[in-house]
Amino acid sequence: MNFFSFVIPITHILFFFSGLSHAVDTITQSQSISDGDGGSGRSLVSKDERFELGFFSPGSSTNRFLGIWYKNIPLRTVVWVANRRNPIKDLSGVLMVNGSGNLLLLGQNRTVVWSANSTKEARNPIAQLLDSGNLVLRDDQEKEENPENYLWQSFDYPSDTLLPGMKFGWDLRTGLERRLSAWKSPDDPSPGELTWGLELHNYPDNVMKKGSEKYYRGGPWNGVHNSGEPELKVNPVFDFNFVSNKDEAYYIYQMINKSVISRLVLNQTLSSHQRFIWIEAKKAWSLYASVPKDNCDKYNLCGAYGNCIIGESPVCQCLKGFKPKSAETWNPENWSQGCLRSKKLSCQDKHKDGFVKLVGLKLPDTTNTWVDESLNLKQCKVKCLSNCSCMAYTVSDIRGGGSGCAIWYGDLLDIRQFPANGQDLYIRMSASELKENQKIKVIVVIGAAIGVVFVVLLITYCIRKRRTNFRGKLKNDVIIDQNIEGQKEDLELPLFDLSTICNATDNFSWRNKLGEGGFGPVYKGTLVDGQDIAVKRLSRSSGQGPNEFKNEVILIAKLQHRNLVKLLGCCIQGEEKMLVYEYMPNRSLDSFIFDKTRAKVLCWSMRFHIICGIARGLLYLHEDSRLRIIHRDLKTSNILLDSRMNPKISDFGLARICGGDQTEGTTNRVVGTYGYMAPEYAIDGLFSVKSDVFSFGILLLEILSGKRSRGVFHSDTSLNLIGHAWELWREGRHSELIDKCLGDSCTFSVALRCFHVGLLCVQLHPEERPSMLSVVTMLSSDNSLPEPKEPGLYVGKSLSCEDPPWRNQQSSSTNYISITSLDAR
Ligand SMILES: *[C@@H]1O[C@H](CO)[C@@H](O)[C@H](O)[C@H]1NC(C)=O
Ligand SMILES: *[C@@H]1O[C@H](CO)[C@@H](O)[C@H](O)[C@H]1NC(C)=O
Ligand SMILES: *[C@@H]1O[C@H](CO)[C@@H](O)[C@H](O)[C@H]1NC(C)=O
Ligand SMILES: *[C@@H]1O[C@H](CO)[C@@H](O)[C@H](O)[C@H]1NC(C)=O
Ligand SMILES: *[C@@H]1O[C@H](CO)[C@@H](O)[C@H](O)[C@H]1NC(C)=O
Ligand SMILES: *[C@@H]1O[C@H](CO)[C@@H](O)[C@H](O)[C@H]1NC(C)=O
Ligand SMILES: *[C@@H]1O[C@H](CO)[C@@H](O)[C@H](O)[C@H]1NC(C)=O
Repeated sequence: MNFFSFVIPITHILFFFSGLSHAVDTITQSQSISDGDGGSGRSLVSKDERFELGFFSPGSSTNRFLGIWYKNIPLRTVVWVANRRNPIKDLSGVLMVNGSGNLLLLGQNRTVVWSANSTKEARNPIAQLLDSGNLVLRDDQEKEENPENYLWQSFDYPSDTLLPGMKFGWDLRTGLERRLSAWKSPDDPSPGELTWGLELHNYPDNVMKKGSEKYYRGGPWNGVHNSGEPELKVNPVFDFNFVSNKDEAYYIYQMINKSVISRLVLNQTLSSHQRFIWIEAKKAWSLYASVPKDNCDKYNLCGAYGNCIIGESPVCQCLKGFKPKSAETWNPENWSQGCLRSKKLSCQDKHKDGFVKLVGLKLPDTTNTWVDESLNLKQCKVKCLSNCSCMAYTVSDIRGGGSGCAIWYGDLLDIRQFPANGQDLYIRMSASELKENQKIKVIVVIGAAIGVVFVVLLITYCIRKRRTNFRGKLKNDVIIDQNIEGQKEDLELPLFDLSTICNATDNFSWRNKLGEGGFGPVYKGTLVDGQDIAVKRLSRSSGQGPNEFKNEVILIAKLQHRNLVKLLGCCIQGEEKMLVYEYMPNRSLDSFIFDKTRAKVLCWSMRFHIICGIARGLLYLHEDSRLRIIHRDLKTSNILLDSRMNPKISDFGLARICGGDQTEGTTNRVVGTYGYMAPEYAIDGLFSVKSDVFSFGILLLEILSGKRSRGVFHSDTSLNLIGHAWELWREGRHSELIDKCLGDSCTFSVALRCFHVGLLCVQLHPEERPSMLSVVTMLSSDNSLPEPKEPGLYVGKSLSCEDPPWRNQQSSSTNYISITSLDAR
């Protein structure tokens, strides 16, 4: 004690002399932080200079708030605000520790606008900003990092941000709840309606709410992750844990590398909570993860006993043994009525009910639950059977094969299906339903066995037939290889390590998945130097050895044009083959023209610019490059847009790189997309530059009309886009084709010309279609054009999707050879 009473006055004196002119992290009773002149200083800075506390005005507002932000990043990012509800209108704000050890924020006329509610007594209270970003009030004689002895800490009163080391949840001893609430807007830090907290049911659940309505549920903690967030797993970036005991229940995370800056923030505008990581190289926050992530994350989208399955049509399905409550209302407008049991439970007699095990689920809403960590699954079942309102049970902790018991009473709400890492749930069923299930199971097993035998026979047949053709192709490949040998020169194509790609894409995290193309999924990634990339992970490149593959990629990488997406390199490791492209921030054309609101962004002059760009890119592929490349899968989703809306063709040369659909393992896959394929390609597998011209024509009509080629416009005539366009053309109703959202921005004569060219491109016979060179000329001049004839393939049903692509394999492989060979130039 003596020691301290000696030291403290000295530190006081030191502070006075320095006048807080350089950064300090502490104020004592005699000091203050003020917005204007007069205080001992204007801000506190944590020891490691990571965080700063001071006054700021958010967004375009002039109001003043006391807050904490990152000191060491240039983009002002506020992580905590003191007087959220009570702005100070001028520069009168002063933060001080008063005589009885309270932290006060004074505003105009020195009225208290905010105070820390400390009730503990302290002899020498000081306020200190810690390296963690925590503003604490403590006794000067207590150790710095001893949370138990803080008189008060800002980490107990979060704003919209959860920092590493903050507890998200409850202190059950004091009843303190730490929940997040979003800022009302970027100009107003007062609490908005979006909040996120831990709900203390027997089986605690983390829930995002809009006002009092549940909006998203992360699901209960199952020992490994939250049940609704199966993608949350051990990772190299942060550690996380959920702690639940008689004193506390909270979620917490810590950065593994303490110098990585990351935050979790709730955003009202986007109605989501997002994790960001600061990328120093780019001087920007990078989105790492965000929930809700898809439609099925919407709270209780499918109603009671409904199961939300992404990719299924409809997305809401009743659980096994249940049927829609009302056939009329079971539709996409409102699924909330949910499902009912097909067979009533017969609870009175214990032996009449049983359970079906469903797998891969997000556990239902836990509002009416009961948990016992000491029971096993068998005891759990008995417990559930003994109460008629128990509807489901499962293990409460999935670790080590599962332990504990969680039981649900009443209707099961907010269930969804996960493709991976979902959980088992045992749902109560009447005995009669269970019997039926067993019968079906037997039938299914027999059916599957028959099916397998049939498929095996079919594959054997196809492979045998294909081998003959495949040999022919191989011969040609040898010739290509020789050609390549001759030109292995200049270009050094970067070879990326698998580990580099894994790092960049966060191990091909689902969060980074941009989409799935014909040849495999595409992921977004960020290289260490900050460059964004798109990685195509080829799923069917079998049949090619690594050298063959590399040679092909080098050839394709040589194709460079401002209307082609740039190939940056590739990655070959074992079975893995990947292509690395530049990343296009505006994604693909289809995300604009087929979307009611985004379509408006693309005014007519932009659309024309895009049409001409695609035409030039395609001309380059067909005529101007060293290789003649037939794209074979030209469509709106393969046209990417850069930040200035310049179109770039993607996926060119992929048919070539992947050995097309001509290798043994991939016989039954179509390269190309119905709705864009020229008739001779779709039906006979014949492709040429003219089949690309056909696809271009479809693209052109889609850009012009804003409608998809496969949509049917009149159900009675089953006309698709080409048919519809042709009808309008013949009847002279030209203007009706043009997307209404273009309004007056459209130069009619130019649009009419595009319409005309589009029809010429989709003529039935390849020789009647113009080459891309003529297309480019036609688009840029006003010479008269030939009259189009009736286009090919326009009655929706004439194209049979059932036609297997290998039906006419003789001609297709002949053609494959013709395009694969090098056109030396
Ligand atoms: C310090 O502030 C608290 C809260 O405003 C107040 O109750 C208390 O009386 C103040 N103490 C002194 C010594 O001014
Ligand atoms: C501050 O005091 C002045 C003079 O007493 C008064 O006119 C003014 O309304 C007060 N302002 C506030 C915000 O209380
Ligand atoms: C302090 O307590 C008052 C009244 O109970 C409350 O309105 C205020 O929000 C509390 N302040 C903080 C920082 O928790
Ligand atoms: C929410 O996100 C939007 C879009 O990213 C951003 O413009 C806005 O500033 C965010 N809101 C807050 C309060 O940070
Ligand atoms: C931690 O991250 C920093 C900055 O990103 C980096 O320079 C450092 O090498 C990393 N440390 C470790 C041990 O990974
Ligand atoms: C869906 O239907 C329920 C009752 O049938 C109703 O309460 C609810 O408001 C509807 N929701 C929407 C979005 O229409
Ligand atoms: C069944 O469980 C519910 C919910 O916990 C409870 O209210 C009810 O009393 C229980 N019934 C029996 C018979 O135990």
